[in-house]
Amino acid sequence: MFVVLVLFTKLSLFLFQKFSKLKQKKVLFVFGTRPEAIKMAPVIHYFKTKPEIVTTKVCVTAQHREMLDQVLDFFEITPDYDLDLMKKGQNLYDLSARILTRLKPVLEDYKPDYVFVHGDTTTTAMGSLAAFYSGAQIGHIEAGLRTFNKKAPFPEEINRQLTGRLTDFHFAPTVQARQNLEKENITKGITVTGNTVIDALFWGLEKLKNFENNEITQLKNIVDPNKKIILVTGHRRENFGEGFINICKALQEIALSHPNIDIIYPVHLNPNVQQPVYKLLGNIKNIKLIDPLNYPAFIWLMQQSHIIITDSGGIQEEAPSLGKPVLVMRDTTERPEAVKAGTVILVGTDQNKIIKNTNKLLTDNDFYNQMSRLHNPYGDGYASKRIFDFITKQ
Ligand code: UD1
Ligand code: UDP
Repeated sequence: MFVVLVLFTKLSLFLFQKFSKLKQKKVLFVFGTRPEAIKMAPVIHYFKTKPEIVTTKVCVTAQHREMLDQVLDFFEITPDYDLDLMKKGQNLYDLSARILTRLKPVLEDYKPDYVFVHGDTTTTAMGSLAAFYSGAQIGHIEAGLRTFNKKAPFPEEINRQLTGRLTDFHFAPTVQARQNLEKENITKGITVTGNTVIDALFWGLEKLKNFENNEITQLKNIVDPNKKIILVTGHRRENFGEGFINICKALQEIALSHPNIDIIYPVHLNPNVQQPVYKLLGNIKNIKLIDPLNYPAFIWLMQQSHIIITDSGGIQEEAPSLGKPVLVMRDTTERPEAVKAGTVILVGTDQNKIIKNTNKLLTDNDFYNQMSRLHNPYGDGYASKRIFDFITKQ
């Protein structure tokens, strides 16, 4: 009797393992820039906790290098494939072609069932096209954001629309994003998950409680606790040239008319950003130009800040969770939810609008309090789990 029981248990175990193997899917996460890495990190970690259901691998195109490595390091992600593609001053044509051709051998080697891409970069658009050629099914995280203006953000709006066409599973962060897809007659395979940036932010905030790295220590040396901080970032292509000159002139005036505040600006490594910013703002006492910060240091700095002025997509989504008012240096946004909620104002690259709204935030307490209330329309920290649950039901 005992022998029969042992044999039966062994057989059941064998069949279970065989069955699980058959069911087990191969997933490849493809990304290349800082924001994609931040927003993919919690999803990758979630998938990696379920090895009995999915095999998870990571391919970085390294469209960014230093700024990507900062994120991989903090989130402890070691890529299985690193295409190491970034070239200084790269252009869209070459980058796009190199991503497509260099992904071919990766897809042929690993043969994933699903390829996950994120957002709206060149890596996203070319990664999903390569995945489509390989026959894999495509999951698009942060799907459905739209301005319906093909020139802004450039080229991201079209990257998103192309990716939406190629995608099988659309992970829309908000209801509005789902509705945008429906306007394009995409009605199947959509689920609303919240934005994974909030998963990443909560994780980062938790880790910060018992964590101090060199960059935070260095920041403490330049942050004057008696001064209000205005945190600035900017990198959008459509703002290159005149837009950036206007932004810099506005910041000059704000700094000179408010000597009691400090402007801290981690400058994006794109040479089209570095050149005007260092030239126009390099010699102003209360403007501190610094290198891009690693993610925990940047979260720490957001927490210390009074106002954030940015053209970044991710920062618009994070700031409402920290109760920080944001002035967005863009004329249009694919993230209208925080504008509706009143925590974000679009100021474009119009010098007067940037100065006027900053001055109002610095002097009008009611206005400041109204904009800084804690309310985040973008997520609750459980987007990664929803993505996993949805894909494993397919
Ligand atoms: C890219 C994305 C943009 C995203 C942004 C996030 C495209 C077309 N653009 O813009 O959607 O919002 O990333 O930051 O996909 N560089 C470095 N080191 C780095 C990163 C960049 O030196 O770690 C410099 C290089 O000279 C590089 C240049 O910046 O050639 C531009 O990088 P690229 O990824 O082409 O464009 P971004 O402006 O960073
Ligand atoms: N960020 C960072 N260090 C910095 C500036 C930004 O880690 O010095 C983070 C920020 O918290 C957000 C993301 O980078 O999560 C935004 O990236 P970026 O502005 O480059 O791209 P976008 O979101 O506009 O695509």
